[in-house]
Amino acid sequence: MSNTPSMAVELAGVALKNPIVVASGTFGFGREYGQFYDLSQLGGICVKGLTAAPREGNPPPRIAETPMGILNSVGLQNPGVDAFIAHDLPFLRQYDLKVIANISGNTPEEYGQMCEKLSAAGVDMIEVNISCPNVKAGGLAYGTKPELAAEVTEVAKRHATVPVMVKLSPNVTDVTEIARAVADAGADALSLINTLRGMRIDVNTRRPILKMNTGGLSGPAVLPVAVRMVWEVANAVSLPILGMGGVSTGEDAAQLMLAGASAVAVGTACFADPFTPLKVRDGLCEIAASQGLERVSQLTGGVRPW
Ligand code: FUM
Repeated sequence: MSNTPSMAVELAGVALKNPIVVASGTFGFGREYGQFYDLSQLGGICVKGLTAAPREGNPPPRIAETPMGILNSVGLQNPGVDAFIAHDLPFLRQYDLKVIANISGNTPEEYGQMCEKLSAAGVDMIEVNISCPNVKAGGLAYGTKPELAAEVTEVAKRHATVPVMVKLSPNVTDVTEIARAVADAGADALSLINTLRGMRIDVNTRRPILKMNTGGLSGPAVLPVAVRMVWEVANAVSLPILGMGGVSTGEDAAQLMLAGASAVAVGTACFADPFTPLKVRDGLCEIAASQGLERVSQLTGGVRPW
């Protein structure tokens, strides 16, 4: 009989009791899911993307199902960073989990201001989102150009007193180019992948299904892209990685860890089953146990070359 492996991991010096984090935009600020189970069972939460001012987001329809996934064009609907600090952070602090604040800015200076406020408010980590495909200013514009990605990272690092993790876009030719630029600018960790730009058309109305025409694809369909990109980035830079994209089982999480992730975020699968993060945690633990590992962290980067 195998022993139960330790599930504790570290992400840029932040200790997580297990590698399972819930992905930004799929778990709100935890309130709805907190009705189903004790959020302290999670390693961490990346909260819905915050902006300097409240945003209503894009007009509907802004969600469309796809084979093995969904397209979203939510447009960063959120109450703004100040409301988060006043109302949502205290709620999350009732639980024993790490709080990672995901932020998007229109300018590098906005990222800096939010980093300052959130650090002072006591979040555990900041996820700098330079990869939202659904907004005109900021977002993907920063995540697809190495020099702009570096500038945002540098400003965020200057203003943050907690670790800064930069969330990378898959909508680039070479993700390692952006990863290197961000690493050189001082990032403490990387998270990837955000959604892949996509589109659906209603053949009867001949209109795009989403009001904004295009959106970001997530869900099980994107897992192999995420595994490939985590593997490429892990081979290119020496920063810790929060891997995500299409995770719905322990095996999916193990693939991302073997590719090089230190921790794994579960996102879209939470919509179908709110308990998915806990099932992924347990499945991952079983895999580590069946392989005789003492610590789940031993999976990280363990993929074998042919
Ligand atoms: O549109 C959205 O709110 C999505 C954000 C993101 O993908 O980062």
